[in-house]
Amino acid sequence: MAVEDGDTREEITALRDDVVRVRIGRNGAMPEDASWAVLPEARQSIVAVVPISSETSVGFRTKSLSVEISKADLKMTVRDVAGKVLQRDALPINFKGHSFQISKVMPLDEHYFGLGDKTGPLDRREEAFSLWNTDAYRFQESTDPLYKAIPYFMTYRAGIALGVFLDNTWRTSFDFGKTNDGIYSFGAEDGPLDYYILYGPAPKQVVETYAWLTGKPPLPPLWSLGYQQSRFSYVPQARVLEVAERLRKDRIPADAIYLDIGFQEKNRPFSVDRERFPDFTGMLKQLKQENFRIVAITDLHIAKLPNLSYLPYDSGIAGDHFVKNPDGSIYTGKVWPGPSVFPDFTRQQTRVWWGTLYRGFHEQGIEGFWNDMNEPSIFDSPTKTMPVDVVHRIDELGFVTRTATHAEIHDVYGMENSRATYEGLKSLDPEMRPFVLTRATYAGGQRYAATWTGDNSSSWNHLRMTTFMLKNLGLSGFAFAGADAGGYAGTPASDLLTKWMEIAAFQPIDRDHTEEGTGDQEPWVGGKEQEDIRRKFIETRYRLMPYLYTLAEESSRTGMPMERPLFLEYPDAASDGHPLDLDLPASGEFLLGHDLIVAPPPSPEELDRYVAEFPTNHWYNFWTGEELFNVHASALHEGQSTPAAPLTASLQPDPQTVPVFVRGGAMLPMAPLVESTNETPQGPLTLRVYVGDDCQGSLYLDDGKTTAFQRGEFLRMHFGCEQKGNTLSINISPHEGSYKPWWTKIQVEVYGGQPNLSRVQINGKSLAMRPASSAGSLSFQIDDNGSGADLVLQ
Ligand code: GLC
Repeated sequence: MAVEDGDTREEITALRDDVVRVRIGRNGAMPEDASWAVLPEARQSIVAVVPISSETSVGFRTKSLSVEISKADLKMTVRDVAGKVLQRDALPINFKGHSFQISKVMPLDEHYFGLGDKTGPLDRREEAFSLWNTDAYRFQESTDPLYKAIPYFMTYRAGIALGVFLDNTWRTSFDFGKTNDGIYSFGAEDGPLDYYILYGPAPKQVVETYAWLTGKPPLPPLWSLGYQQSRFSYVPQARVLEVAERLRKDRIPADAIYLDIGFQEKNRPFSVDRERFPDFTGMLKQLKQENFRIVAITDLHIAKLPNLSYLPYDSGIAGDHFVKNPDGSIYTGKVWPGPSVFPDFTRQQTRVWWGTLYRGFHEQGIEGFWNDMNEPSIFDSPTKTMPVDVVHRIDELGFVTRTATHAEIHDVYGMENSRATYEGLKSLDPEMRPFVLTRATYAGGQRYAATWTGDNSSSWNHLRMTTFMLKNLGLSGFAFAGADAGGYAGTPASDLLTKWMEIAAFQPIDRDHTEEGTGDQEPWVGGKEQEDIRRKFIETRYRLMPYLYTLAEESSRTGMPMERPLFLEYPDAASDGHPLDLDLPASGEFLLGHDLIVAPPPSPEELDRYVAEFPTNHWYNFWTGEELFNVHASALHEGQSTPAAPLTASLQPDPQTVPVFVRGGAMLPMAPLVESTNETPQGPLTLRVYVGDDCQGSLYLDDGKTTAFQRGEFLRMHFGCEQKGNTLSINISPHEGSYKPWWTKIQVEVYGGQPNLSRVQINGKSLAMRPASSAGSLSFQIDDNGSGADLVLQ
């Protein structure tokens, strides 16, 4: 549908019944229809609509929504099929010079999430943000802008969620009622007015639709879910080997060691300091034998070193791959290596060239790469980044071939850097699944790289903020993300490092990292007692690896984040539909997948008792198996209309542990302990059955590193259980896919439920072995030959 008013033209299309795109052209012309974020298939899709018009408005209806534009002022209203207003323009669009601002009515009970890892409260309400990728070293709670620009947010009101994505790469701004009571607004300083509205109603549907629009994260290699050890910088070579050896000697499971800029000759990307690393290849070989993967930093600034046989510079000049000043000279800025030049990542040829720079490291067996400083960060510029008039060239399928100023490209520059890395690694070895970690990115960047929250600090408040930041990043497409565990700036006190490691063990990326010049921050720092606690948590992460990997696979298929806010899975938890995460008792909590709640105190340093809040009425203590069951729950099941007060538990903080709860009805796959994911677990798969309603679980497995899963070499299993009277039935599905698992037996552990256990039957035959019972659970082993099993416990 198109509406015109003077020289303003508004085009509104329904890409799907639940997705509307709004584009507005000024001066009689529509903006270029191209996008760095939106997948071409999504942008080109269209559904039939039914026109609706009245005297005062024009519009259309889809199967899920209606959209109306008032003829008088072009204000738009979006409703659901029942006529309920979902979103309404508060003011006509405000055009000023090249900029524009869209204003929407902000109901009192509406909440706002997303915009990546911006700090501040989880809910963006009453906050305002600017999106302009910035190296925000030592950022604090009020620092804005930060490293990423993800101009996407979710509105959530009384159980109904809507996504809004402003696809504009210029500096954008978002104001959720901070300036004007009752109005939220978003806009850009220049560029296309092009935004998408994604209707739920469930928040999970919005997450999935956003993934449909901007892409899903690739399935990460299994090792990247292991514990990762980093610092700025492990040097010399002997120190890298010493840290690796100590991890193994102290039996701290670990999969990756990072090489930060110190491994390079004078901080020059793609070089190696041969003095400090006299036998780099030998070191890599040894680390590989010890089951470590290396993640090497490869910043995007290329040292300006003419005539010194520095290949990245020489080949970049030969191919004309660097960005230029308006006068045509190559732009130079100072970063870690000194004067540097910057690849023009918006050119496809430049990305291909960048990818070739990885050949050497790739051939040496380095499997992970870290793209840092890619906002881009520039030390000798007053704006900390490139001048906005630096010239980029766009040479890209789907775009008009043209030049563009840095003002337009800045916010996508980091994403295109990580894209060049990801695609380069893919072309060096199409069978492998690369691990790329990026600091700066834009919407859609989840297709190429995982991310972390940048240079945080070793403080309790930063640990607290991490939960909010990762929840919002997850809602913004980044399923696979982490924060520097222990904090980057500063040296954490022992108890802080311990608590951070306890919590990070349940977050998507578990990486300990710290700044140059700070104290040691490895798991053993602070003595044996602390190390034992930290080890226990990292071990728990490894035991949970089948669950974690199953979640990572879900993310790659649906876009669902691994770390989730409670309201994403349990939107109906509060009777008025507000997100439970906003209640003070639940504010420190997060979900790992659908079934685990990690529940540190709202302020993780506090030692006073606190109350944890649960989204449903039946949970188990993960550590003890103890059942938390709300007596109101049974009444609820009998059709009571108002939900009972949510289940709560009073908890005593304990420096040695963090409360973790499992949903009644969860079926958790777990593995025997290994020291790295490269080891094959020895023993049975454990299937923990937490008897309850909606009893189910699943498991996904493959070789953990290649794309063979796309040819059917994976294993998928579904689990179910049902308690009827004294009978508990457990179903284990036959194996799907051709991948052969490491186990031949399953250890079934049952928590809760009350079978009186006169017998256990498997596929109709009585079990030979008697189940063993301990502390509220009973367990027994069964063979798993791939054809599934029906178990009956009576
Ligand atoms: C940046 C990164 C940090 C890294 C350092 C040196 O500050 O954010 O993680 O250690 O650069 O490469």
